[in-house]
Amino acid sequence: MSTFKDIPGYEDLVHKSEKLIAKAFGRYTPIPVTRGKGVYLYDEAGNRYLDFAAGIATCNVGYCHPEVVEAIKKQAEDIIHLMDHIGYYKPYVDLVEKVDGLLPESFADAAAFMVNSGSEAIEVAIKLARMVTRRPIVISFFGAFHGRTMGALSLTASNKNYKVGLGALFPGVFHVPFPFDPNRDPEKLTRECLDHIENVLSLAIHPADVAAIIVEPIQGESGYRIPPDDFLPSLRELCDRYKFLLIFDEIQTGFGRTGKMFALEHWNVEPDIICLAKAFGGGLPLGAMFARQEINQKWLPAAHGSTFGGNPIAIAASSTTIDVIVRENLVENSRKMGEHMIKILKTESEDLETISNVRGKGLMVAVDILGRDGKPYPDCKKILYASAEKGLVLSTCGANSIRICPPLIITKDQVEEGVRILLESIKETIQ
Ligand SMILES: Cc1ncc(COP(=O)(O)O)c(C=O)c1O
Repeated sequence: MSTFKDIPGYEDLVHKSEKLIAKAFGRYTPIPVTRGKGVYLYDEAGNRYLDFAAGIATCNVGYCHPEVVEAIKKQAEDIIHLMDHIGYYKPYVDLVEKVDGLLPESFADAAAFMVNSGSEAIEVAIKLARMVTRRPIVISFFGAFHGRTMGALSLTASNKNYKVGLGALFPGVFHVPFPFDPNRDPEKLTRECLDHIENVLSLAIHPADVAAIIVEPIQGESGYRIPPDDFLPSLRELCDRYKFLLIFDEIQTGFGRTGKMFALEHWNVEPDIICLAKAFGGGLPLGAMFARQEINQKWLPAAHGSTFGGNPIAIAASSTTIDVIVRENLVENSRKMGEHMIKILKTESEDLETISNVRGKGLMVAVDILGRDGKPYPDCKKILYASAEKGLVLSTCGANSIRICPPLIITKDQVEEGVRILLESIKETIQ
């Protein structure tokens, strides 16, 4: 492959991007992307990159799926914007019914509020939880990532840089430990975490002041951290006992990413509120908060609103994307390809001291990297750059993990090719 550095105008693009795009913005690869198709991204020189990032777990049916493209074009000819406060809009209702049909039984007639991003969906969830319970506190977890708007950020505890200098955020958030450690007994981890929550409830805050507990069924941003099997059922039991609402943030784990339509199916736990985004919009900005009907009924009219939330084009893209996921059995493909990927990653890295752990569910896979000194490798970005040069797009999560979340349409050959490039890049980077 010719290097993208030879593309005319590349230096200028990099220079301007570094200067004109807010410095706070992180970037995983130096690729000058021009288009995407299926599981590949392309640059201007025609170089092709196998994409193990999918716009960070978003393009689940791949880039520019023909049916999604067609749905967007068709919708653009009918109506582009309709503020949902103006009137009734059938495709909105149809989409809510479609998602309700995929969610657990207790969400069969759940009500949705559509927004433009994951962070906004979280904002809706915490407003709803506090408004209907009239309780001020939300419990969240260390390692949680729920977004970057001020409310969602208050619940986030995955990277201290996100909050530096901001001072007081949303009051009434308590963070408690999330039970994840591949080297420790899972049952003990769950017990310690629940004991910690009970301790907080007996000494620091009154249970009558707690509106909800919010949790990612698998923590994303902080390292694809999978909790022990008894954790989420125990959390449900604790919420029932204290009458707290349980909010699941399935923004990254939803729509087949983990080898189930929603991650909650791995543990058969039914929360009270579910937040969705990322893959939900089929590549367009769309998020949603789904709440059980009995909670929805307690919300006052006009308690929340949005100009763009539930945009007709995003709804059309979402609805078609979900149809494709179901019809093409992409949830099952995610499960199978994820299992295959984890198997070969584990086998091929058996003698590699620089890989300390491989884990995942479906196509939500993480590889922990160690340096030659045996300590967590702090520079995974170097591996990402080496992979990009070889035609593979990756991202990171946590302090020292490579994050793998390709489109769910990926084939066995593509899985094997990507794993080969990743392992080569690790070996080449950490000598
Ligand atoms: C679990 C989770 N929650 C919330 C968000 C925030 O979503 P957005 O970036 O669309 O605001 C993300 C984004 O990565 C996420 O992974």
